[in-house]
Amino acid sequence: ETKVWKVDKYGDNLYTYPQIKEAAELLQQNEIVAFPTETVYGLGANALSNEAVEKIFQAKGRPSDNPLIVHISERKEVERFAENIPEKAEKLMEAFWPGPLTIILNTKPGIISEKTTAGLSTVGIRMPNHPVALALIKASGLPIAAPSANLSGKPSPTSFSHVYQDMNGKIAGIVDGGETGVGVESTVIDCTGEIPIILRPGGITKEEIETIVGPVDMDIQIKEEVENPRSPGMKYKHYSPNVPMVLVDGSPEFLQKIIDEKRQEGKKVGVLTTEERKDFYQAEKILTCGNRKDLSTVARSLFKTLRAFDQEKIDMIISETFPAEGIGIAIMNRLIKAAGHTVIYEN
Ligand code: TXA
Ligand code: MG
Repeated sequence: ETKVWKVDKYGDNLYTYPQIKEAAELLQQNEIVAFPTETVYGLGANALSNEAVEKIFQAKGRPSDNPLIVHISERKEVERFAENIPEKAEKLMEAFWPGPLTIILNTKPGIISEKTTAGLSTVGIRMPNHPVALALIKASGLPIAAPSANLSGKPSPTSFSHVYQDMNGKIAGIVDGGETGVGVESTVIDCTGEIPIILRPGGITKEEIETIVGPVDMDIQIKEEVENPRSPGMKYKHYSPNVPMVLVDGSPEFLQKIIDEKRQEGKKVGVLTTEERKDFYQAEKILTCGNRKDLSTVARSLFKTLRAFDQEKIDMIISETFPAEGIGIAIMNRLIKAAGHTVIYEN
């Protein structure tokens, strides 16, 4: 019963396509529709409607105190939904929109559904850099509330098949626009205070942001659990494969030693590694995500690889770690959550 529309993202005037129009009409009728963005697939609903947004929380099994990002297709829409917009926020929009940056601003009361904002006085807004997403938002004429289109707790979907697996039968439709690009979600930055604060590392790096607005804070510990996170989403279990996962921070030799110990305990071990090191290890299953020399390739295939382990007959996953710099911060943030904060250090 879930409709599927295939759309070529390189087409001209996508917002006039019948598939996009049909999907947009369902959004106008307060139904929910999944669509591709440049980061991950989103599960979209009319951000103005409690009824529509409630369906997202139902379909995902998402806790209702976790607010949703509002997606727009034109810069001028920001003033409709937010007020007291600081100059640093303006600069960030100018520099990174459309793109993987979500900006938290003070909400203009009474417009965006309080289910979208989870009752907060702030709202996260982003203009995605994907032709299908922009066309769908434009065709609907609505601000679109959209979390990642996975079941709550699962890795975010980077291809149509991931969305179909999690959402078929639960939502009105899925726009299939092929694989997403960045692979990790948008960076979330709170611009309501004097100094902007990164609440979630993502597609735009801290370094890139600081070249535009100067120093920013980061409310993220890579190594420890955040106790009182400012972003409600930070406190939930996330990205979890079906079997336990452990991060091992150290040399390949040290990793193999840990693998051997687990195998001696009778466990079937899956290893998450990269192209450079894939031939080094001996285990029941070795899966690679990208290339260490270019961490953007790791970001792109990370969630796909985590999901692929669910198809394997293994008892646990042992994963390498990555340098916590640039996009590596977002990668490590997702891996640490996937591992439920279990990290073994060589030193
Ligand atoms: O790349 C992305 O951002 C994708 C695509 C679909 O756009 N969306 C996404 O949404 O990742 P979601 O719901 O999975 O993650 C949104 C994050 C959550 O951690 C949420 O707590 C935080 O943004 N967030 C949203 N509104 C907020 C607000 N007003 N204040 C603080 N955090 C907020
Ligand atoms: Mg998500």
